[in-house]
Amino acid sequence: MAKKVVIVGGGVLGTQIGLMCAYYGYDTTYWLRSEGSIERTKPKIKLYTGMMMEDLQKAKALVGNPMGRFLYPKGMIRDFSTATAESLDSLAQQGKKNLEENVHIELDMAKALKGAYVVIESMSEDPQAKIGVYNQMKDLLDKETILCTNSSTLLPSMFAKYTGCPERYLSLHFANTIWKNNTAEVMGHPGTEQKYYDEIVKFAASIGMVPLQLHKEQPGYILNSMLVPFLGAAQKLWANEVADPQTIDLTWKLATGAPKGPFEILDIVGLETSYNIHMMNPDAKVEGSLENKVCKLMKEKIDKGETGINAGKGFYDYTK
Ligand SMILES: NC(=O)c1ccc[n+]([C@@H]2O[C@H](COP(=O)([O-])OP(=O)(O)OC[C@H]3O[C@@H](n4cnc5c(N)ncnc54)[C@H](O)[C@@H]3O)[C@@H](O)[C@H]2O)c1
Repeated sequence: MAKKVVIVGGGVLGTQIGLMCAYYGYDTTYWLRSEGSIERTKPKIKLYTGMMMEDLQKAKALVGNPMGRFLYPKGMIRDFSTATAESLDSLAQQGKKNLEENVHIELDMAKALKGAYVVIESMSEDPQAKIGVYNQMKDLLDKETILCTNSSTLLPSMFAKYTGCPERYLSLHFANTIWKNNTAEVMGHPGTEQKYYDEIVKFAASIGMVPLQLHKEQPGYILNSMLVPFLGAAQKLWANEVADPQTIDLTWKLATGAPKGPFEILDIVGLETSYNIHMMNPDAKVEGSLENKVCKLMKEKIDKGETGINAGKGFYDYTK
């Protein structure tokens, strides 16, 4: 019988993580808090399923292309070097079937968590909301269930005591568009037992990720220790009216050869996530500070519904 994975939170990342689990044959349940959440998550399931399957189709054209090994969806194809158009067709067929059969949505938390092998919490970056849900979950988790958080900026040691299973609790942190950018940073807190850490390293590999092991807690892990200051620097240039987002992106891309600029990345990350991260900085509340200006500008865009690719508009318009 397929092992069960539960995703808590059906936002940008939660949806993608669940789909990768389903694609690789896990019995996948999204636990959502309300009917309204279901209505918001269903279109995301459709959107990301479409994007994943489209990228798998496009990979056929990359077979034999020397650039192919850089461009294929790395999380979805285990060995691109031996792939053929036929093998990719049968992979797509199996993947589509898995996605159709393995995805479930559940509002009843007890039902959702029962028998889970791994639970991945991927709720908004809001410590109080996370604590609230850990408190709700703690008496419902099975004795061997491993509980992971996908939090980008918060340390597992902040939450371990609320989970009821600190020894089975750790961070498993994904990057956006995980079927292509297949990193999974694995980070325990001082109370995580090694055998559960090792199990999550194996689990991450089993869903097409490359597990990246951190030896100790680090706010922002490896990726965000670099990415957050980078995006923040770009946002400050914009807020300080030094240059517009398009020029900042162009500078970065032309000068470094990077395929995307910081504002294109922000559109993928989602403006709300970035806003929440900025709001945690004490300077965000200091009237007249650059950090405060960044928050105001980001909030204006969020209030207009310009929250990134998902909404069709962020710093760029994706409806055209
Ligand atoms: N967006 C990214 O690029 C990215 C990358 C890696 C990790 N993360 C992390 O993943 C987590 C989720 O981020 P996201 O971008 O998917 O956010 P999101 O805003 O798209 O989704 C958050 C989800 O949490 C749910 N939620 C909020 N409060 C809740 C509550 N009290 N009970 C139940 N559900 C609740 C919302 O309904 C929503 O479905 C965050 O911890 C974030 O730091 C995000």
